Amino acid sequence: MSHVLHRVLGKTYPVAASGTGALLRDSDGREHIDASGGAAVSCIGHGHPDVLAAMHAQIDKLAYAHTSFFTSDAAEELADHLIARAPAGMGSVYFCSSGSEAIEACLKLARHYFIETGELKRVNFISRRQSYHGITLGALGVGGRMKDRAAFADMLMPGHHISPCFEYRGRRPDETAEQYGLRVADELEAKILELGPETVCAFVAETVVGATLGAATAAPGYFKRIREICDRHGVLLILDEVMCGMGRTGTLHACEQEGVAPDLMAIAKGLGGGYAPIGAMLVSKRIAEAVRQGSGIFPHSQTYVGHPLACATALAVQRVIERDDLLANVRRQGARLEQRLRERFGNHHHVGDIRGRGHFWGVEIVADRASKTPFDPALKLNSRIKEAAMERGLMIYPMGGTVDGTAGDHVLLAPPFIIDAATVDTIVERLGDAVDAALGAVQPA
Ligand SMILES: Cc1ncc(COP(=O)(O)O)c(C=O)c1O
Repeated sequence: MSHVLHRVLGKTYPVAASGTGALLRDSDGREHIDASGGAAVSCIGHGHPDVLAAMHAQIDKLAYAHTSFFTSDAAEELADHLIARAPAGMGSVYFCSSGSEAIEACLKLARHYFIETGELKRVNFISRRQSYHGITLGALGVGGRMKDRAAFADMLMPGHHISPCFEYRGRRPDETAEQYGLRVADELEAKILELGPETVCAFVAETVVGATLGAATAAPGYFKRIREICDRHGVLLILDEVMCGMGRTGTLHACEQEGVAPDLMAIAKGLGGGYAPIGAMLVSKRIAEAVRQGSGIFPHSQTYVGHPLACATALAVQRVIERDDLLANVRRQGARLEQRLRERFGNHHHVGDIRGRGHFWGVEIVADRASKTPFDPALKLNSRIKEAAMERGLMIYPMGGTVDGTAGDHVLLAPPFIIDAATVDTIVERLGDAVDAALGAVQPA
């Protein structure tokens, strides 16, 4: 019996044995196309020789040094690389080991900034329903996936939530996409006024909503309005690009396509591409300067902050992306992926919506297209699709609760940036078969 506390206790998982490019092999020798990059992590695929070489070179020099004693070349070079390509106004980077930790750091630094600037009443965070910001208590506190929060609700800081920007289910027939986006953005202003602007610290949002809604992009103008509202009330904007960032949507940062820059930004998954557990918080010059001129200290540190091996690894991943112009491939193959998904599912009786950008696509499954009625959650359709895809050698990232945290099913695709046209076609072909097989199993013949 396994002594690992697995996600689903008692379940027997296949053993991941090796990986090359977009393929993962299990210990029985079966190959799986990694069409979700795990959970949107493996952006340059598995076993990349340049990254492995950089990791070996770093270990041969130094694996670890505590940041209360030293900085390291690896951390300094990675921070330089990230800031040179960061959204406008960013000046510093705080490294950590995961997306949840990056969000925790953002929440703490937002609060600390207002302590430094003397606005002590600013303690409230506003975020959106149907969002995921991580699993640690602070991140769960701002998260909007109510099912995850339920068991721990009494332990969480009070969450203040507004509507997501989710056109497929939220836009009224009499609204344009722009009108819808502005309507839901204006909920932020109403919430700030309700709480009292002097009490609000920050608004937290995924630029493109990943796991919870399945690659839901914002309506045009939404984030510009959000930025204006934050600025009007002195509220910080924290963008969570843990899943949608670092090239996933075809630009290095998803917010580039929205024409806004945040005050703090969390990145993780694609930063290290799965080769090392690493996340980061990007910090605006304004915030870093306030701390520098105040106490000079960000009182939030962990043992593995700035881990040299993790930083050297992430730098190698980022250099490969840039050297091989992989974001151009994301845009090229992403367009093909969209086209193939629309061909395969555009007229499918049980596909309500196909949405996304770059190498980040969601397919929402419904019982009835006209009314957008979801399947009964008890059918666990999304899990069945995942199983059916695994049987066909395809890794995808399906999720339930798309509508309200409980009902609704979607499939998320997040393939590596390196894939070619033939792999795109195979992914969609296998996905189509898996969706039909799972639907066949839940519906009377
Ligand atoms: C948008 C978003 N934020 C935060 C996190 C948390 O990241 P981690 O699982 O690395 O802690 C995730 C993970 O899926 C995520 O998708």
